[in-house]
Amino acid sequence: MYGRECGCFRSDFTITIFLLPAISLLFKPIIPLKIVLLPLKLDDKVLQINDKTFEIFIRKEEIQAEIASLAARLEADYAGKEVVFIAVLNGAFMFAADLMKQFRSPCEITFVKVSSYKGMNSSGRVDEVIGLNTEIKDKHVIIVEDIVDTGITMEKLFTLLSVEKPASLEIVTLLHKPEAFKGTHTPTYIGFSIPNKFVVGYGLDYDELGRNTEHIYQLKGETTH
Ligand code: IMP
Repeated sequence: MYGRECGCFRSDFTITIFLLPAISLLFKPIIPLKIVLLPLKLDDKVLQINDKTFEIFIRKEEIQAEIASLAARLEADYAGKEVVFIAVLNGAFMFAADLMKQFRSPCEITFVKVSSYKGMNSSGRVDEVIGLNTEIKDKHVIIVEDIVDTGITMEKLFTLLSVEKPASLEIVTLLHKPEAFKGTHTPTYIGFSIPNKFVVGYGLDYDELGRNTEHIYQLKGETTH
């Protein structure tokens, strides 16, 4: 049985690797090689990262439709205003890029990281924003986040950016987990409110892996993380 399965695999493999590219060369103007090799692409319904299995949760079409609607709301609310988007790395890089493509009014965009290091204050930690090289005083600032979970990162950013005296400060996040949220600044613009389950993809990572997918995946099985 094992041998037969193995033989089947070899013959499929031979057809895919040798025969289909050869056919594509014969019909080169009609069938580009990459289209012939497309069936080799892995199924995108499941994502395996190290020991964890993730199932498809929000498809790329739904994500893009929601981003278009968020961008339209932002355009309407900030019409005629000087807007600076501050996207939080690493997770928000894909969302920020797609949101910017849909937001058609003039705006600035900058990327920051929030860092926490050992310091001398009462809690023993000092938070800082790394990479903010744009003047935000008297400007309308919109923080762009991939996900607001407990809200702790947002809270830190709010405190740190408020010091710079922007004209206004709001948050747009693609995902929000209301059940996990402990913050005081609820995001004004939310793409999807989701259950308290670990998600990955479209910028979000698990152990730094899985950011490079078009869909968002949810951890299979467990109810919370
Ligand atoms: P916070 O708990 O709202 O402060 O979220 C902190 C950070 O944790 C987020 O910016 C994400 O980078 C990460 N994070 C929170 N929940 C998830 C998740 O479900 N998947 C991947 N990363 C997450």
